[in-house]
Amino acid sequence: AMTTTMETLIGLVNRIQRACTLLGDYGSAGTASLPTLWESLPSVVVVGGQSSGKSSVLESIVGRDFLPRGSGIVTRRPLVLQLHKTEPGQVEYAEFLHLPNKQFLDFSLVRKEIEDETDKMTGSRQISPVPIHLNIYSPKVVNLTLIDLPGMTKVAVERQPESVVQDIENMVRSYVEQPNCVILAITPANQDIATSDAIKLSRDVDPTGEKTFGVLTKLDLMDRGTNALDVLEGRAYPLQHPWVGIVNRSQDDINRNIDMIAARCREREFFATNLDYRHLAGKMGSEYLAKLLSKHLESVIKARIPGITSLINNSINELESELDYLGRPVAVDAGARLYTILELCRAFDRIFKEHLD
Ligand code: GDP
Ligand code: NA
Ligand code: MG
Repeated sequence: AMTTTMETLIGLVNRIQRACTLLGDYGSAGTASLPTLWESLPSVVVVGGQSSGKSSVLESIVGRDFLPRGSGIVTRRPLVLQLHKTEPGQVEYAEFLHLPNKQFLDFSLVRKEIEDETDKMTGSRQISPVPIHLNIYSPKVVNLTLIDLPGMTKVAVERQPESVVQDIENMVRSYVEQPNCVILAITPANQDIATSDAIKLSRDVDPTGEKTFGVLTKLDLMDRGTNALDVLEGRAYPLQHPWVGIVNRSQDDINRNIDMIAARCREREFFATNLDYRHLAGKMGSEYLAKLLSKHLESVIKARIPGITSLINNSINELESELDYLGRPVAVDAGARLYTILELCRAFDRIFKEHLD
């Protein structure tokens, strides 16, 4: 019952977060607690060097193919991805903030829309800090906010201006410095881990390693006769949380349209049969990572519930007086959204009181 209650509360917090995003810049003196409420909700930020496998890891966590991936700078704007768990049997769909009321049932069209929307803002090669907001509704996901970011580089490539290196680093930092973020630090196993951009950045912003999850991708591409046990067993780069090894799809797999289910099967088989890793098989792979993350977020939210609850209560008070001021029924869009947020806050408060107080 505890898990279901937590799931419901996290789901509500997720919806309040979404409603706050929809509210956008509706900056009103009466809703001062809303931005703080927004910031108090945890999100998972994916960081790492270019082509380290960030977008691939995100897709595996979601369990759907929908992100642009490939060699070079493919992700050129932040993608704020909110997963909403729906009732069993419900149809899975995606919806963009910039295209409200359009439900995407075909996830390959989601990828196309991300590509088009990226180009629209940036031209074909530039980077932009303006995020794309995407919501996915599915019975198969866990309630989670994930943020995909452009990869960090040491030198400008692909005819990018020199400033791009610093621009990307600033953008990534602005996300990982949020107090409630969880950092997914992605490092490819076939490169020198000592020079990993992800590890360097996470050491800098999270020296104790409490909010960093180390993810080692491309284990299938390591030189024969070498392995990553020193890292995976926590000796080389110890973090508070265990390292997770991953085998994503290769570019060849992507070109041949190998689907997610087949890829997961193969990943499981890789760990189960590899002589170096099979003793760790139960704690490796994308599915395990997804479970680990949702468990962690649950504990983060649990610890923050007293704070979130008082923020939600402040929000309820503020929203009520704001709505009184606007007068009900409110015709304007913003009023309707404030009302939705109020209803969500009340639902949170009620469930919290009934089950956890
Ligand atoms: P990003 O730039 O960090 O978002 O990386 P992508 O997810 O776009 O992946 C970059 C390239 O590396 C793609 O061609 C992927 O197919 C490939 N790739 C990512 N992870 C793995 C992996 O675990 N194994 C193999 N063989 N290829 C991978
Ligand atoms: Na890439
Ligand atoms: Mg990417």
